Amino acid sequence: MIRVLITGGAGFIGSNYIHHALRVHPDWEIWNFDKLTYAGNLANLKDIEQDARYHFVKGDIADAAAVAAVMKNGIELIINFAAESHVDRSIKGSQEFLMTGVLGVQTLLDAAKEHGAKLFYQISTDEVYGDVEAGQYSTEADILRPSSPYSAAKAAGDLLVLAYARTHGVPVIISRCTNNYGPHQYPEKMLALFVTNLLENKHVPLYGDGQQIRDWLHVDDHCRAIDLLLDKGRRGEVYNVGANHQPELTNLQVTRLILDELKADAAMIDFVTDRPGHDRRYAVDTAKVSVLGWKPLVAPEEGLRRTVRWYKDNPDWWRPIKSGEFLKYYQEQYRKSPSSSHPSFPRQSSGQAGRRGV
Ligand code: NAD
Ligand code: DAU
Repeated sequence: MIRVLITGGAGFIGSNYIHHALRVHPDWEIWNFDKLTYAGNLANLKDIEQDARYHFVKGDIADAAAVAAVMKNGIELIINFAAESHVDRSIKGSQEFLMTGVLGVQTLLDAAKEHGAKLFYQISTDEVYGDVEAGQYSTEADILRPSSPYSAAKAAGDLLVLAYARTHGVPVIISRCTNNYGPHQYPEKMLALFVTNLLENKHVPLYGDGQQIRDWLHVDDHCRAIDLLLDKGRRGEVYNVGANHQPELTNLQVTRLILDELKADAAMIDFVTDRPGHDRRYAVDTAKVSVLGWKPLVAPEEGLRRTVRWYKDNPDWWRPIKSGEFLKYYQEQYRKSPSSSHPSFPRQSSGQAGRRGV
């Protein structure tokens, strides 16, 4: 059996990846090491918790003793998903982002070094490049120009990973992927927030003019890319992973697709105060991963339809989240900004006006 440490496996991408890995790697035994922050949710893994090849350990990747203890299980491969992942929260307070994204990564790298792990795989983000002009694509060799404390922490993490590879010879791979979407995404992120808001008959808060561009990658396609890179990726290298669907979609266009899918009216959109430092467009050059044989399989319309269906069918998953810690965050995040000429708090629909039978 190959003994694998997956950190942050109770979150959105990590839990999707654990399901995927148990399916496609019968020779893997997995330790899911997760701090269970507000975004960590063991309900994401309920169906596999009795699987003999799966173990859960609650812990912080910045806690060297806890990491050393889990490594004693004979871990050979570390896949690090753990991070504070929400840009807006990093603007309100950055410390946790640095604790996990920098000190946490350093602690894991030390453990990889000391225990002679065969590979340390870092899940990174296209946000480390900052935004790119229309027609341009970030390559893995580009300089890092992170715009938010979140992406600055991720960039620092990437640099540490490369430094440990060069100085200590730790075998590493970094992948930088674009915006993931799919089931079990914490409903603070745009797509999950907008779908669940509409299902609750609430308006959706679109930042600024809604003309920002993100590259929407279905989480299943991301999981397949990770596997390919584990298998064929060169140690010490960085790989971009993105869907590159054409035409590119602005946030407003994505919002319209969601509204259409839920038969809701455009009046449900509230244009609200923009995110400070908001990156305008992300797009990555994926030639390096494509050459190895990966391409996205989920078309955006199909992926969106499936994702909307999942949130519709699983209110028991997201309703408890939206009534807890999330509610306080939401009220603070979207309350009217004193300097703004327009409100940033999205309205509750007064009735069925603006809906087309959600
Ligand atoms: P998420 O917020 O849904 O999950 C993060 C998980 O990490 C949670 O389970 C949380 O409890 C855990 N965690 C946080 N701090 C920890 C710590 N100190 N020790 C142990 N566990 C900790 O995030 P996600 O969207 O699933 O993102 C996973 C990874 O992918 C992150 O590294 C993120 O930067 C990266 N990424 C995400 C996207 C995206 O679109 N969601 C895109 C590119 C890259
Ligand atoms: O690009 C990869 C990144 O994608 C990951 O590294 C991050 O972990 C992940 O959270 C995501 O970051 P974004 O900031 O792009 O995702 P978010 O869902 O927060 O926002 C997507 C777009 O939608 C962005 O342009 C901001 C906008 N938005 C977001 C929210 C939450 C809105 O217009 N309104 C909102 O309420």
